[in-house]
Amino acid sequence: MTVHFIGAGPGAPDLLTLRGRDLIAASPVCLYAGSLVPAAVLGHCPPGARIVNTAPMDLDAIIETIREAHEAGQDVARLHSGDLSVWSAMGEQVRRLRALAIPFTVTPGVPAFAAAAAALETELTVPALAQSVVLTRTPGRASTMPERESLERFAATGATLAIHLSIHNLEAVVRDLLPSYGSDCPVAVVWRASWPDERIVRATLATVEAAVAGSMERTALILVGPSLGAHVEGESSLYAAGYDRRFRPQSAQSVFAGRED
Ligand SMILES: C[S@@+](CC[C@H](N)C(=O)[O-])C[C@H]1O[C@@H](n2cnc3c(N)ncnc32)[C@H](O)[C@@H]1O
Repeated sequence: MTVHFIGAGPGAPDLLTLRGRDLIAASPVCLYAGSLVPAAVLGHCPPGARIVNTAPMDLDAIIETIREAHEAGQDVARLHSGDLSVWSAMGEQVRRLRALAIPFTVTPGVPAFAAAAAALETELTVPALAQSVVLTRTPGRASTMPERESLERFAATGATLAIHLSIHNLEAVVRDLLPSYGSDCPVAVVWRASWPDERIVRATLATVEAAVAGSMERTALILVGPSLGAHVEGESSLYAAGYDRRFRPQSAQSVFAGRED
């Protein structure tokens, strides 16, 4: 018996890895974080699977459900939204499973920031403009932020910010970013990226609050930074005609000429 932690992706049932889909289909028990994993993803469960929404459960109850499946010799598919590496609460479950000597695997998923960028049809890195993406959040009821990880500090870098779990804090987000990014800085808010009712608001720091106007809650990602501008035109060297590189030496004198490694 194995517990399979699976990144269930941003919502669309076909934005799972093939491995994730196959593990769900082969597991007679499925535990899913119902606050973010939509029912459509559960369509991959086998007929007759025991499907448990863990949203109203505490950690002890979740581990007890897994322990019961372990005793019955039943594999468990444990689904969390997006990828498991950020804000999934996988860490504490894994520690309990290790203590109980219950085996587990981890299968990554498509994170929300990538689904939001796809919805915007944009790259979040632009040559010479922004070469870093910061995945962050603002403090919540249950989570304080380490002091050094403030939005003000991240904004000072000029990186593209992907701000999670914060649509209800939009006013504070704008307040903290204005000094570094300025009121014209582009912002995109993507609600339910990849869901059938996905919605996109494009604005600036000056206009985003009015543009959202409280119309989005919970499953929204706030992307901020110059890379989101409509007129961004930087091109990478990768495909530039004159760029000397291993796979396209520009002359017989190139350090790459004749190399096949
Ligand atoms: C608990 S975190 C989970 C993040 C997830 N593990 C990931 O890899 O993206 C939940 C937050 O992720 C963002 N999120 C998750 N799914 C989303 C989606 N489909 N569209 C937009 N934002 C999403 C929202 O900011 C939401 O508040």
